[in-house]
Parts: sequence; C-alpha cells; structure tokens
Amino acid sequence: VIDIRKLYADTDMFTYDPGFTSTASCESGLTYIDGDKGILLHRGYPIDQLAEKSSFMEVAYLLLRGELPNKTELENFETTITRHTMVHEQISTFYRGFRRDAHPMAIMCGVVGALSSFYHDSTDINDPKQRMIASHRLIAKMPTLAAMAYKYSTGQPFVYPRNDLSYTGNFLRMTFSVPAEEYVIDPVIEDAMDKIFILHADHEQNASTSTVRLAGSSGANPFACIAAGIACLWGPAHGGANEAALNMLREIGTVDRIPEYIARAKNKDDPFRLMGFGHRVYKNYDPRATVMQKTANDVLNKLGLNDPVLDVAKELEHIALNDPYFIEKKLYPNVDFYSGVILSAIGFPTEMFTVLFALARTVGWVAQWNEMISDPAQRIGRPRQLYTGPTQRDYVSVDKR
Ligand code: ACO
Repeated sequence: VIDIRKLYADTDMFTYDPGFTSTASCESGLTYIDGDKGILLHRGYPIDQLAEKSSFMEVAYLLLRGELPNKTELENFETTITRHTMVHEQISTFYRGFRRDAHPMAIMCGVVGALSSFYHDSTDINDPKQRMIASHRLIAKMPTLAAMAYKYSTGQPFVYPRNDLSYTGNFLRMTFSVPAEEYVIDPVIEDAMDKIFILHADHEQNASTSTVRLAGSSGANPFACIAAGIACLWGPAHGGANEAALNMLREIGTVDRIPEYIARAKNKDDPFRLMGFGHRVYKNYDPRATVMQKTANDVLNKLGLNDPVLDVAKELEHIALNDPYFIEKKLYPNVDFYSGVILSAIGFPTEMFTVLFALARTVGWVAQWNEMISDPAQRIGRPRQLYTGPTQRDYVSVDKR
C-alpha cells in the first residue's frame, strides 16, 4: 500500500483510477475481505460463524461498538432499538404521495430522506451521543418504513411495530399481518430472515457505503446520507442484483434452457450478464453465497416447498463453475444469487428484495459513517478528474455562431 498523499505532496500529480479498483478511500476497522481466499470478517469474526451462531442485533452491536455484546449489553441494545421503531405519524402521509405502483426503493429513497426533516435532536454530527441516537433511529425505523412500503404497494393498512417481538419477527409481522389475520411468526422463517440480514450487514467500501461516506464527509444530515446510500444500492450492478437474479432464474425456468443463457453471458455482443455472478473483490467464492445456498435449502426443506428455481440456480452454478469463460474470469455466485430464492419462499415480491438489503445494510452504513466522523484523518471527499474537454477559447455571441 502506497500513501500517495505523501508521495505526491507538493506536486500537482494525482492518480487516475476509474471505478476505484486500486484506491483505498479510508482506513477502517469494521470489515476485512480477502477476495482471493473468499474470506469475510466483521471485527475479526468470520461471517459464517456470525451467520450460524449470532443474531442480527448482535452483529449490529458488534459493527457499531467494536465488540460482541455480553447478555446485559445485548438486552439493553435491543431495548434501545425497540424504543425507536415507531415513525412520526406524519411520515405516513408521505407514502400517500407516491403512486401505488412506485418501486419500493423509490419510496425508501424518499421517506428515509424525509426523516431528516423530523429528528432535529440527533443531527449534531460532532456529538458522539447524537450520532449514536441517529444510528439507533435508523436501524430501528428501517423495518417499519420497509414494511410500510410493502403495505402501501399492496393497498393494505400499515401495521404498527410490536416491541415484544424480536427485531426480525417484528418486521415480518408488520409486513405480512393483515387486519383479518394476525401473522404467525414461523421460527424457521424468522431465523432465515435474520441470517439474510446478517449476511448483508456490511461489506466494507462497496458503492453504497462509499456513497454514504462521501455524502457524510461534507457534514450532511445523517438521514440524508443514508437516503443517498439507498439510492446507490438500488442499481442492478449493486443491491438491485438480487431482484434481477431471481427474475433471470425464473426467465430461464427449466434446467434445459441454461446453456442458452450461459452462451449469451459469454457473447461479447450481447449485453446480458448472469445476474448474481461476479464480484469486484471476490475472485474465489463469495463466502456469503455459501451460507445463502445452505439457508435456501434449509428453508425450502423445512417449509416443504419444492421451488424449481432452486434447481435451476444450483445447475446454473454447476455449469458455470466448470466453464472455461467463468473460470478464467473468476466469476462465482455472489450473495445475491441465492437470496431471492429464500425471500420468494418467505413471500416477498421481487421488488422488495433490494429494500431488505437496504434494511440490513443500514447497520453497516451507520457504523461506517460513525467511524468516518470519529477518524481524525477525515476530510471532505473530493476526487480529482482527468479533463478531456476543449482548451480555453473565446466566447462568440449567438448571432455569430
Ligand atoms: N456474467 C458474464 N460476464 C461477466 C459477469 C457476469 N455476471 N460479470 C463480469 N463479467 C465479465 C465482464 O464481461 C468482463 O469481461 P471482459 O474482461 O471480457 O470485458 C469481466 O468479466 C470483468 O467484469 P467487470 O464488469 O469489469 O468487473 P467489475 O468488477 O467491474 O464488476 C460486477 C463486478 C458489477 C459485480 C459484475 O460482475 C456484474 O455485473 N455482475 C452481475 C451483477 C451482480 O450480480 N451484481 C451484484 C454484485 S454483489 C453486491 O452488490 C451485493
């Protein structure tokens, strides 16, 4: 690692690095990735151990505070989060301004941004206590806002939080309860959903996290910074890939059609890509995909469902991993490849998939935002550019052009 600030000090030199493939934008103690070995650690703990043994609330505490909580610390943290699950009643009027068929990510960009107009007592970013309150609010309110986005799209009334339930159980109930029928939380589904949240909680300097950091580097309102992260996450090359991956698997439909899609993915004249495949950093295997595949199997087995999409996914993975094109380019399934199968089995429409990603990633976003602001080296993010426009020329009045 070269610290080019020192190397280029007192010169007008800078690096040109589109897509930031070779540039570290910050120091961070949250998440470690070794893309060649397929390793992902949060504060030192392997992701598979966290997914297997901990809860999303434990991981949230770990990322925000640096260590796993003891029993009392966890209980206190969970109580703090549940105290913030309600949103101001006026927020519900925001939803009514959106078209019924609006994409729920469009709604989330709007309503999370709108939180910045409500919570003025947690916006002094130089006060660590206020930063923590804003972080707790965001983690706590995301499930409520996400469930409201879902309810709005289905035309059903909003369901208010019930704070005797777990973080994830509460979210499932707010999403799936209808006035005539209280949703019964299935522990298998609750556990699978919690695992999915853990697997999406943080992933170091990905596009949306970098967006949150860049927005936050100017001292912007924390709720507005997270709204910026949501906007970035929406794209199909990032969080939108889980929706695109399931749509693609459904379109393929049957195992015998896989070769056609593999051929398309390899054809340079066809813009088609295998969604849920490839990663900027992982060049071995995305360790989250391993947990996700196992969870998909478990959920479908325990629910007694036999979704042909899972068979298509497994066979597609098998064929691609033995194909020279994918081997040479080191393309493996990423976290998005199997998550859609589970979410669909739980009952979520594809449009909600990226919203669930945003809900979970909020933990990483607020933890990274806090880390950035407490970093003494923090400065406003201000990339340079290579100018390719015209050289200086004189203005010509409109009648002479
Ligand atoms: N299918 C077919 N070919 C692919 C795929 C794919 N999914 N991904 C990359 N390639 C090929 C590219 O065509 C390129 O080939 P070339 O060298 O002949 O030009 C080569 O592999 C490298 O691809 P890049 O786009 O340069 O890799 P980059 O690191 O910029 O992109 C990305 C990574 C965006 C994830 C890419 O692999 C992709 O588009 N995948 C599909 C979308 C997806 O699943 N996104 C989710 C990412 S994980 C997340 O956000 C949680």
